[in-house]
Amino acid sequence: MDYADTLPKQRPFGATTRPDAWWLQPLVVFLGFSAFIIYSTWAAFQGVSDMKTGIPSYWYGGNGANYLSPFYSPEFWGISPHAIGKLPSWWPSWAPFSPAFLILWAPAGFRFTCYYYRGAYYKSFWADPINCAVGEPRKSYLGEKYFPLIIQNVHRYMFYVAAVFIVILAYDAWLGMWFKDAVTGKEHFGIGVGTIIMTLNAVFLGLYTFGCHSLRHLIGGFLDSKSKAPTCGKAYNCVSCLNRKHMMWAWISLFWVGFTDVYIRLCATGHINDFVFFKL
Ligand code: FES
Repeated sequence: MDYADTLPKQRPFGATTRPDAWWLQPLVVFLGFSAFIIYSTWAAFQGVSDMKTGIPSYWYGGNGANYLSPFYSPEFWGISPHAIGKLPSWWPSWAPFSPAFLILWAPAGFRFTCYYYRGAYYKSFWADPINCAVGEPRKSYLGEKYFPLIIQNVHRYMFYVAAVFIVILAYDAWLGMWFKDAVTGKEHFGIGVGTIIMTLNAVFLGLYTFGCHSLRHLIGGFLDSKSKAPTCGKAYNCVSCLNRKHMMWAWISLFWVGFTDVYIRLCATGHINDFVFFKL
């Protein structure tokens, strides 16, 4: 007798004996991701018209502040004071350009290949499976051993890129603590609402990034015996501690990075005023 004949029959799509609201989590994930993808795409395209008008809606400099949206950092070619250079003349005039286009692939690629997110969006967007112990729509399972999903293995390399972004965003938060005097041109240390939001953004993204499964392996998970390399063992425990709340930090950091862009955009476009607690 064929071994496959002894297996229970595959459930039809959506069939389950689970009594709980198993569909709720995939639905919330679907709505949350969709909202973020739509907003971040819209925000990235705002830079196209900014480049034409020469007025950045992704950077706020009112009251001497220096707040840059995380969707636009680092700004390789742009029009804010953070820009490393201007858009080169060889860029075709018919091709739309936004400084966000040059960098958003990195955080997007990091999240897209994240082990937590994979588990979440395979359920909520592809219904493969739609949830544990619930009938799925496909008859065969190819997994991540074949193209295209084998590409997900680049996650360990995306981690290095994401770690550099944390340093850059922390530096942006530091720059957000310095306010330029309009008369003397001198910079003064201060704290505004934007400073706090940008600092928390770097912190939340750091807590998400440094709880990465790839880092956990890199820093000590590869060892057969942690006791033989106590420093690695301690670092491993530290990353494991963040890793246990990886899903929570994934969502908090996703929400906060979007919120940081919203706040700076609203200030830059004159819809709200940044409140500065103090300047020295
Ligand atoms: S596993 Fe989620 S960031 Fe690496």
